[in-house]
Amino acid sequence: MHYEKPTINKIDFAMGSKYGSPVKTQKIRTNIAGVNVNDLTEKYGSPLFVFTEQEIEDKYNTLYEAFSTRYSDVEFGWSYKTNYLNEICRIFHKLGSCAEVVSEFEYQKARALGIEGKDIIFNGPYKPKEDLKIAVQEGAKIHIDHLFELNDLEEIAEELNIQIPVAIRVNMDTGIYPQWSRFGFNYENNEALEAVERMHQNGKLILNGLHAHIGTFMLDAKAYGMATEKLMHLKAIIENQFGYEIEYIDLGGGFASKSNLKGVYQSSEVIIPTADEYADAITNAIYDNNRSKKLPKLYLETGRHLIDEAGYLLSSVWGYKRFPDGKKGYIMDAGVNLLYTSNWYNFNIELDKRYEGENELSMLNGPLCMNIDIIEENIMLPPLNRGTVLSISPVGAYNYTQSMQFIRYKPAVVLIDKEGNTRVIKEVDDLDTVNYKEV
Ligand SMILES: Cc1ncc(COP(=O)(O)O)c(C=O)c1O
Repeated sequence: MHYEKPTINKIDFAMGSKYGSPVKTQKIRTNIAGVNVNDLTEKYGSPLFVFTEQEIEDKYNTLYEAFSTRYSDVEFGWSYKTNYLNEICRIFHKLGSCAEVVSEFEYQKARALGIEGKDIIFNGPYKPKEDLKIAVQEGAKIHIDHLFELNDLEEIAEELNIQIPVAIRVNMDTGIYPQWSRFGFNYENNEALEAVERMHQNGKLILNGLHAHIGTFMLDAKAYGMATEKLMHLKAIIENQFGYEIEYIDLGGGFASKSNLKGVYQSSEVIIPTADEYADAITNAIYDNNRSKKLPKLYLETGRHLIDEAGYLLSSVWGYKRFPDGKKGYIMDAGVNLLYTSNWYNFNIELDKRYEGENELSMLNGPLCMNIDIIEENIMLPPLNRGTVLSISPVGAYNYTQSMQFIRYKPAVVLIDKEGNTRVIKEVDDLDTVNYKEV
């Protein structure tokens, strides 16, 4: 242990609780899926994203079983934006998911991974017309977001001299706040029906699906029941009034993962609905509101619920300092450049072993030369030295895809497969990858 100049700190009695003093409690994680965390950083470097195939598969199987045992015609679409590392997408496709994409880039990624157009759901508010045309020609499921896009599709239908099967995105009040009303056509004010009417009059598009993505990290399964009921009502009206056959409904994503939302004090274990509760809400509402001979196919585009807990970020202590107010600030090698979601979630932060000494209130800062680079503002930690490896989780959803090449290179990503073998699924960036295509 190095000598450290003594400081006098105010004892913060507010830190105590009925569960006792937090001075000795340490959260420790020596391994991920049986692989030692120090071995991982020694072999592959730090910081390092780590994913475990077993956790992905377990989550997928639990959710799929919850739905398929209640409703046989169900298919999952892997939400690329949640995590589009090739190997992660391959795992979901191998498990049976089609692809759900929201841009031309994600569409091309899915095609490059061998997914056929017919197995791609194309969402998103911005679909460049030339890419939309390719997706139409390749038979993708196009989910229309707004009237400009509807217009583009009618023009493409005319150019290709075909009728194009399409779905529309529908937004609605499901009793949650804030209501997601940005995407698609509104249910309550009849915008959705008006769009269908317009489509019907022109005769160039054939409506065969309805989609609703009601939000993300949805803590109330009942909201899905309400969304499903509204889609089923709309389906009945459309089929009666316009003669279209709505072959499928798609309830989007949004099921919560076991992250701890900032400002929410109950543990995620208590507040997050189970897979069975989500499945009950959706499938019961389909059965209760079906007015057709045939039940529709059900799609889900679950992202975070399936991948978040399978992802960890290993980050090492680089140093520490005392701020003028006496608080200890650790300098870590990973910061908000890699943990975009640290704005909303309190991560689970675990030490690689037990450390001597009492806990003190500390701050975890990242490596960026930016004052905002804070992973955790207040955390009780024992004295740590350079090289201590912290496991930060769950970080499997959105953190990699939203991570920035900013100030430092983006790190490597390792997968631990079901046999416990580790392999790099994305190399650490270098000057060539960053400078690629610059003049
Ligand atoms: C259309 C659509 N589908 C699926 C998802 C995945 O959502 P989540 O990761 O919350 O399950 C999103 C994310 O916002 C989305 O916009």
